[in-house]
Amino acid sequence: MRTRRPLLLGLLLLSLAAGACRPTATPPPPPAPTVPAHPLVWDAMTKTQSTALAARSVSVSFTVTNTADRPLRIYDVRPSCGCTTVELPRAPWILAAGEKGTFRGTVDIVGKHGELAKMFYVSSVPGTQTLMLVLNVPDPDPQARAGNQQLAQADRQAVFRGACAACHAEPAKGLMGAELFAAACAICHGSDRRASMVPDLEVARQKRDAAYWEKWITMGKEGGLMPAFSAQHGGPLSDEQVASLTDYVAAQFPSEPPAP
Ligand code: HEC
Ligand code: HEC
Repeated sequence: MRTRRPLLLGLLLLSLAAGACRPTATPPPPPAPTVPAHPLVWDAMTKTQSTALAARSVSVSFTVTNTADRPLRIYDVRPSCGCTTVELPRAPWILAAGEKGTFRGTVDIVGKHGELAKMFYVSSVPGTQTLMLVLNVPDPDPQARAGNQQLAQADRQAVFRGACAACHAEPAKGLMGAELFAAACAICHGSDRRASMVPDLEVARQKRDAAYWEKWITMGKEGGLMPAFSAQHGGPLSDEQVASLTDYVAAQFPSEPPAP
């Protein structure tokens, strides 16, 4: 007994000491590999915008701050879609330490409806960043659409007058070629809700040479919904516009029907 007491005391002290050292909570996880924050800091990585019913395109600006202590170059801002153009403030786009800069993106929404997401891929040495623009493009009221079709059935040139002109004539003013097509033609032919009586221009149902296109653009078709676009036939387009549009569509769309 006498010899065991100090031993017990010693063991007790030892276990107390060990207890004091033992961590009370679970050990912290090993440090995660730290991803350094990207030194190009944007005002937002995602922006949301609603558009007006008659809008043909939507623009957005993204502003960046270079938080690094050295200049950084943005090599490129690439849009996810051919329908989007990007304007950089200058080339090369180099931001000094602490400097802010803004680029603008413009999305063509003719023929688009509902919620659309468009990306911008920003490339720089620290790494590519993805910015997103979410668009809410309103669906036109279906009753209004049926009413419009009825009006056009009675008079196919009605699209160029009154309230219809805001979408069907005004946007084409002064434009030529591809831009004119997007404004005057894609509204009907390129819609993602294209009506059954509106043909898909990507498919040639017969041989289509320049004369064929010019005739359709100039006169449209009596008894249908395709209006006459040339000024002589009561449309909004000058001879020069008709000629530039004819050149564009004759080169852009297939001229021969697909082989059977
Ligand atoms: C707010 C813009 C806007 C206005 C105003 C407008 N339209 Fe349209 N129209 C469109 C769009 C967009 C389409 C393509 C189909 C779609 O997306 O609804 C279209 C298509 C059409 C079509 C092809 C058939 C169809 O339904 O797709 C006709 C015909 C037409 N419109 C006639 C008219 C007439 C007539 C008026 C005036 C009474 C008018 N539109 C006013 C935007 C408009
Ligand atoms: C208001 C809606 C509307 C607009 C705007 C419109 N079209 Fe059409 N288009 C039609 C409809 C409907 C037809 C079918 C006509 C028919 O067969 O009666 C058609 C037919 C055609 C055809 C013949 C079919 C084919 O596939 O070859 C061509 C070509 C054509 N459109 C070109 C154009 C061009 C170019 C523009 C722009 C200047 C344009 N259209 C603008 C409604 C439209």
